[in-house]
Amino acid sequence: MKALIPAAGLGTRFLPATKAQPKEMLLVVDRPAIQYVVEEGLASAADEVVIINSRQKKAIEDHFSPDPELVALLRSRGKDAYADEVERVGAMNVSYVYQEEALGLGHAVRCAAEKTAGEPFYVLLGDVLVPGNAMLPRMQEISDAHGGASVIAVMPVPKEDVGRFGVIAGAAVADDVWKVDSLVEKPDPAVAPSNLAVFGRYLLSPRVMELLADVEPGVGGEIQLTDALDAVLEEEEMYALVVDPADGFDTGTVESWLETNNVLMQRRREQ
Ligand code: G1P
Repeated sequence: MKALIPAAGLGTRFLPATKAQPKEMLLVVDRPAIQYVVEEGLASAADEVVIINSRQKKAIEDHFSPDPELVALLRSRGKDAYADEVERVGAMNVSYVYQEEALGLGHAVRCAAEKTAGEPFYVLLGDVLVPGNAMLPRMQEISDAHGGASVIAVMPVPKEDVGRFGVIAGAAVADDVWKVDSLVEKPDPAVAPSNLAVFGRYLLSPRVMELLADVEPGVGGEIQLTDALDAVLEEEEMYALVVDPADGFDTGTVESWLETNNVLMQRRREQ
């Protein structure tokens, strides 16, 4: 099973910091943001992480490649703890596919179709960090309990913010689980079906990958993953895990990225 991380975006909201450096490589406490996401993927049922990259963002690939010269240099200087970390990150099971054109999240995911080989797969959005790594195993549990259904993470957000997210309609079937009836991408807050926003962690059935091939451009002229999820509901069940705001961090804006650094640094000090 694969965990897909779309990473081909331009990082517009972080310019000029992202002019010569991918947004995914910006530091969060002590490592690039994307390293948290890769580690989370590898801590789940996934055996490999597939980064959907753009050709311009080679720094991401360099980060996850072995660097024996650097390791040897560090060891010769007695800096073994750093050498161990460099070795560890270079040995992570990461591969790459390329999104040649920025046509939307759904299009990015579809670029990895061959990698998923007709199996269920995770999608992990790099804008969201889940440092405890507990969310994917819980989503897998819910899927297993419902015959392999797709499961997405959702988080309650203030009603006025729903227009920035995918939003679900449905009903609670347990304390923290909803059965999803429909989804809408970036709805007008006045008509949004709930305040539960899609939070950037997905465990999806292979049928979603098939349907993505036929999804037409939607909101913003982009091929939306949310539209494929809404389409699969005609054929399959889907569940949503309602996550606790303390378990996941949005790093999609400069402000939320700084706030995430502060909170995680504080947690580190308290350890
Ligand atoms: C994407 C998804 C949206 C989801 C959001 C979570 O939107 O399309 O459904 O709620 O990520 O971060 P984007 O942030 O790329 O506009």
